[in-house]
Amino acid sequence: MNTKLIGVKELPTFYNKYSNNTIKPKHVLEKSILVTGATGFIGSRLVNSLIEKGHDTSSLIRKGKTGHAKSNNIVGDLTDSRLNISDTKFDCVFHLASHTPLERNKKILEKVNLGGTKNLFEQVKDKTKAITYISGLGVYGETQGMVVDETFPYRPNTEFVKIRLDAQKFLEKNCKDLGINFTAIHLGDVYGSDGWFYDVLVKRLLKNTFRLPKSGDYYKAFVHVDDAVESMISILEKNSPNETYIVADPTIVKFKEFVDFTADSLGVKHPGPIPTFVAKAILGADLITLLTTSIRISNEKISQICDFKFPSYKQGIPNVISELKAKKLLNKTT
Ligand SMILES: NC(=O)c1ccc[n+]([C@@H]2O[C@H](COP(=O)([O-])OP(=O)(O)OC[C@H]3O[C@@H](n4cnc5c(N)ncnc54)[C@H](OP(=O)(O)O)[C@@H]3O)[C@@H](O)[C@H]2O)c1
Repeated sequence: MNTKLIGVKELPTFYNKYSNNTIKPKHVLEKSILVTGATGFIGSRLVNSLIEKGHDTSSLIRKGKTGHAKSNNIVGDLTDSRLNISDTKFDCVFHLASHTPLERNKKILEKVNLGGTKNLFEQVKDKTKAITYISGLGVYGETQGMVVDETFPYRPNTEFVKIRLDAQKFLEKNCKDLGINFTAIHLGDVYGSDGWFYDVLVKRLLKNTFRLPKSGDYYKAFVHVDDAVESMISILEKNSPNETYIVADPTIVKFKEFVDFTADSLGVKHPGPIPTFVAKAILGADLITLLTTSIRISNEKISQICDFKFPSYKQGIPNVISELKAKKLLNKTT
């Protein structure tokens, strides 16, 4: 059993970790967790939060990267046959590492996102009780305007997502065979002070070079990165095993509304459209299909175990923009 119970003797130290004097439960289960993609946009915040909450956290990081100082940092690449995860036992592995959909080469996507997942599984199958796989909403494909919940069938309409789903199915089957608990989390588009929201949207809005394929006239589901991370941890702490969760806020919004609200919050012009064939020529047809497929979701299941701090982008975006301002990242020439 790899779960440590924080006992009465340790309580003073434990209570000191919380500045708001909230009364925490007397017995808190500290879990041993491995996070892959731990230096990425979401993974780095997940590691911070797990450590703040007192979980014993290991991070898979690539050579040359710096992991969290309080994490047990394991240097390795998913695609390396010499990948060696230490002999630590884990209560759960959060698998976030993946190549982004910006990569157009199918062979590279298969090597990292599918081959890398299989390689990781070989390393952790005798070391973990559970694996949580982080993916997106692209698995549902074209949903004809219906509101999607976790009972919906998967019908991916892009090569990128088909490969990610193959990796999910591989884990699901092999976990089942070995009695390892498996959870899949489908995140909406995660916004925060880095990742695509800053690198693609904010920077280009500031330079007036952002354009909307299909005029942004499709629904998207969003989630503030803090709520994405809090949801993952709630699932870790409260989940019954072998479940699937959709994690996005409950606000139904078209991409154009989200982008225009961001532009207004930054005090810059609303962006214009770009013809779809031009967008496809620049970014690839697969990515444009992924970005412009409409989706509306129900977040009822995750809401039962996690309260969202930002139930709408109208609350979340001002928070992110304040963070960017504080970091002095809103210079138009950045
Ligand atoms: N961001 C979103 O809106 C969103 C939405 C839905 C689902 N997701 C999913 O959430 C997960 C995390 O997304 P993110 O936005 O945090 O992505 P990210 O910032 O691009 O992070 C990806 C992480 O994967 C690591 N990685 C990539 N190739 C690897 C390899 N061969 N071996 C080991 N590590 C490797 C990267 O390492 P380096 O730091 O060394 O580059 C990075 O830490 C992904 O699976 C993504 O598909 C994200």
